[in-house]
Amino acid sequence: MCGIVGYAGKVETACGKPLEVCLQGLKRLEYRGYDSAGVALSAPGMERVAVRKKAGRLSNLVEDIERKPMPAATVGIGHTRWATNGVPSDVNAHPHTSRDGKVAIIHNGIIENASQLRLDLQAEGYRFASSTDTEVAAKLLGKIVDTIIAEEGKPDLFKAVRRLARMLEGAFTILATDCRQPDIVVGARHDSPLVVGLGDGENFLGSDVAAFVAYTKRALEVDQDQAVCVSADKVIVTDFFGNVVENPKTYTVDWDASAAEKGGWDSFMDKEIHEDPAAVQRTLLGRLDKHGDINLDEVRIEPHDFKAIDKIIVIACGTAAYAGMVAKYAIEHWVRIPVEVELAHEFRYRDPILTPRTLVVAISQSGETMDTLMALRHAREQGSKVLAICNTQGASIPRESDAVLYTHAGPEVAVASTKAFVAQITAAYVLGLYLAQVKGAMFRDEIQSTLDSLKAMPRKIQWILDTQAKAVQKAAEQMVNAKSFLFLGRHVGYPVAMEGALKLKEIAYTFTEGFAAGELKHGPIALVDEGEPIVFIVPPARGRNVLHAKVISGIEEVKARGAFIIAVAEEGDPDVERYADVVFWRPKAPTLMSPLVDVVPLQLFAMDMAKLKGYDVDKPRNLAKSVTVE
Ligand code: F6R
Repeated sequence: MCGIVGYAGKVETACGKPLEVCLQGLKRLEYRGYDSAGVALSAPGMERVAVRKKAGRLSNLVEDIERKPMPAATVGIGHTRWATNGVPSDVNAHPHTSRDGKVAIIHNGIIENASQLRLDLQAEGYRFASSTDTEVAAKLLGKIVDTIIAEEGKPDLFKAVRRLARMLEGAFTILATDCRQPDIVVGARHDSPLVVGLGDGENFLGSDVAAFVAYTKRALEVDQDQAVCVSADKVIVTDFFGNVVENPKTYTVDWDASAAEKGGWDSFMDKEIHEDPAAVQRTLLGRLDKHGDINLDEVRIEPHDFKAIDKIIVIACGTAAYAGMVAKYAIEHWVRIPVEVELAHEFRYRDPILTPRTLVVAISQSGETMDTLMALRHAREQGSKVLAICNTQGASIPRESDAVLYTHAGPEVAVASTKAFVAQITAAYVLGLYLAQVKGAMFRDEIQSTLDSLKAMPRKIQWILDTQAKAVQKAAEQMVNAKSFLFLGRHVGYPVAMEGALKLKEIAYTFTEGFAAGELKHGPIALVDEGEPIVFIVPPARGRNVLHAKVISGIEEVKARGAFIIAVAEEGDPDVERYADVVFWRPKAPTLMSPLVDVVPLQLFAMDMAKLKGYDVDKPRNLAKSVTVE
């Protein structure tokens, strides 16, 4: 939610670079919010910070700057907004400035005491142009800088930002520039992300590394309640009281800028769905030793601690929570310990039962989802160990967890999550099989054959992409005007149905409901009318799979009431051929592996429907990729 970028270069060389870096960074961060965009630049000799901002997509800002170029500068800050506080408009767009225009600020988060601070400032005669909390912070920062000038005879933006940070309540990452100190950009973070990019004679700031990965892959972590002052050749990190943090942690980003580009695809979503096979494959890579056993030394939880675990609670939101629901079926079956899956925002407020033997697994693509972050903090406070399954190196959730198992899906840019889902299931399966290994819950050859099935999944997903895309496109053309869809599944097909429904609602804006097929007769069947499209996830028919027979009965029941049946089913399933109007076939796969293939045609279907309706599949309305507010 909201993307932030900052740049500090040398006086002799910077010139147009701060603006270039800010606009490039915003382009890569636009998935975090696209209600408005803006930049602020400072250079020696400026009387006021140069600010430009526009409501709507980044392209509006770029066009405006092309029409009326901005001045050369040494430092810059840029912001792309997901509106939390004040409607999307030019005036509410960031940056916001101090009363004298010498200080500009951008912000990600929600300042909870903004109303009181606004009243206090108004009582002192301050006037506000916007209704945002950020403008309150900007006016207050200007006032603090003035106080410091009165006390010390010169401005000190770093000190001022720290004082400001101590006065704010809520969640915030702030970046600020002052035209009287045009060699530095200052940042502060509390419950909201901020990373530094380490360049050569230049340094960068960003909400995540995507902001600057085109310029440098070396990154430095800014931790909770820390402030940072960045110039062309220096980065100083302190706490909010000015105590310097010695040797802050640095790391190298393991992907490059091209991974976050469309590379010939007409949308990121299309590209990312086609990366599903690679996402599974890369998540398995390096996690099996030469004997074929699972090796999770990387997670930093000792095998004997793993052995002691008697319950798992998965906390996550949205798609990540559905991946957790899939994992529950597998882990309970393999390890024979209870697995609860809970939406992170519900978990924290219901006084959950946690013990030191409970392993809390926080699943998050972005690693910044505030609901999940707050839930994991709560779990750790109660004495449980938290393991993060995360796709983003160095993000807050893995940083604050006891251990992390990274999914190596590569950067996911489209707002709707696709490849991260299959990677999350894969990582959770690796964790489950590892637990089975250390606890001796499965025989070695059972683990090996399950791993063999898992290793075969990238090939099977590829088969779907190669052979089913046309059928999916045709179905989308046929169904494009449908007003609503029901998605039904049982067992692992149930979370897949929920995920299929979520994809379609979030990018094609079609009303959908996903639920357990067994619930049909307990209410939802009343919705079934002539022509109502219902998507069924049909389990494998092999063996005496009672679930298959039950799902087929469900299909028969709604078919008898005139429903239009779309089935995701195993190649050649004769019952499905008999009843379904449209079938997306999947290759044969064991039941527990089937979610990895079943979700793929549903991802394609949602994307095709949205494209046919003329929507931007990468940036659905009202949504943002990284939900950093509760
Ligand atoms: C749906 C989607 C969201 C996210 C959810 C959690 O396509 O992307 O439902 O899955 O907001 O996000 P992360 O995984 O970043 O914690």
